[in-house]
Amino acid sequence: MLKHSRADFPKGFLFGAATSSYQIEGHAMGGAGRTQWDDFAVTPGNVTRAQNGDVACDHYNRWPEDLDLLKDGNFDVYRFSTSWARVMPEGRGAPNPEGLDYYDRLVDGMLERGLKPAATLYHWELPSPLLDLGGWRNRDIAQWFADYTEVIMSRIGDRVWSAAPINEPWCVGWMSHFLGQHAPGISDIRATARAMHHVMLAHGRATEVMRGLGMQNLGAVCNFEYSVPADASPEARAAARLYDGYYNRFFIGGLFNKRYPDDVLEGLGPHMPDGWQDDMDLIGQPLDWFGINYYTRKLIQANDGPWPSHEEVPGPLPKTQVGWEIYPEGLHAIIKRVHDGYTRGLPIYVTENGMASDDRVVNGAVNDKARIAYLDAHLGQVRRAIDEGVPVNGYFAWSLLDNYEWNHGYGPRFGLVHVDYKTLARLPKSSYHALKDALAR
Ligand code: NOJ
Repeated sequence: MLKHSRADFPKGFLFGAATSSYQIEGHAMGGAGRTQWDDFAVTPGNVTRAQNGDVACDHYNRWPEDLDLLKDGNFDVYRFSTSWARVMPEGRGAPNPEGLDYYDRLVDGMLERGLKPAATLYHWELPSPLLDLGGWRNRDIAQWFADYTEVIMSRIGDRVWSAAPINEPWCVGWMSHFLGQHAPGISDIRATARAMHHVMLAHGRATEVMRGLGMQNLGAVCNFEYSVPADASPEARAAARLYDGYYNRFFIGGLFNKRYPDDVLEGLGPHMPDGWQDDMDLIGQPLDWFGINYYTRKLIQANDGPWPSHEEVPGPLPKTQVGWEIYPEGLHAIIKRVHDGYTRGLPIYVTENGMASDDRVVNGAVNDKARIAYLDAHLGQVRRAIDEGVPVNGYFAWSLLDNYEWNHGYGPRFGLVHVDYKTLARLPKSSYHALKDALAR
């Protein structure tokens, strides 16, 4: 049982669960085009057991059952994403009618069940033909993305409750082009600078297109880690600050203050695309809400390596299946900071929060009590921010289903609902039942 319940939150506070297209749909079905994750996964060394999203949770066929789970779980809103390559297999040009029909049915299916559709347009599966043209390194991607936005939102934009162009720009930029951990697996500072800026530009162009279509309730979703100096030295403090800079402040700085932080530009500046300063008004155009994805904190210490000259060190707190420390207070700190320094009164949603655990089915049940405690503790920190006057209007658990956890393949289980990847059977875990009960109270 959760300690918190719906009654602990203001009237109208929304509870949801989140997923993303490539992680659950089964990308091989329905005429979708090849993506950078298909290329990345098949390349040795990138993904555990070279697993990909071909089948995933077969949500492409099983979506009615999955939407029923959301409805029966007493959720108000479902955060899902549309796949660029399903909508436009080549990334540009002719759309795939089957893909458009699919999202049409999916959105209607939500509405029929009383669920608010919260759409994301890009959750990482870039169509491969666009990667061949440079992907996020190429400034033209902002226009390609705007064209895709126009196509998909002309079809479903009249019925979605909210929309955000890009999920987690840090992952698109830094993680995929500097750390090389996600597709396309590049480790290059010049590519990073360009990708970090172009992803913001694409956000701006897509927002403009959606406004032009008359859509409302448009936002942005960034991921945050609470960065902590590993020790009391000035070096560790500076290192943690820079980590916070390129992880967190770069994106909210662009979105809400129309400027990127100076400490990050010290490294990225020489590699930024020409004329980037002229894009900041488009990037920083007004939004209706802001989404925070939060999972963990990181301890950072300085090292003698090349810029950014620091590294993560393991912390002492209990960890999840993927080794992330559980630190609920960080969610409160991030919400406060985002509100005080950036969004200044704009509605905030926690658009992702959750944990991976090595869940097993025992006697027909999954008893994931650690996840129940995790959700409860983080809801408590949301509540604390609300009590302090921050307009947090909703909370989404990641994820409805166990799914494809990118470079880790199908090992980490983040779902409220267990998925047996052999039979594709869904089995609601204890956390699902606990949340369902809390949302009825
Ligand atoms: C953030 C991402 O949006 C999602 O795709 C991922 O599965 C979760 N975090 C967990 O890592």
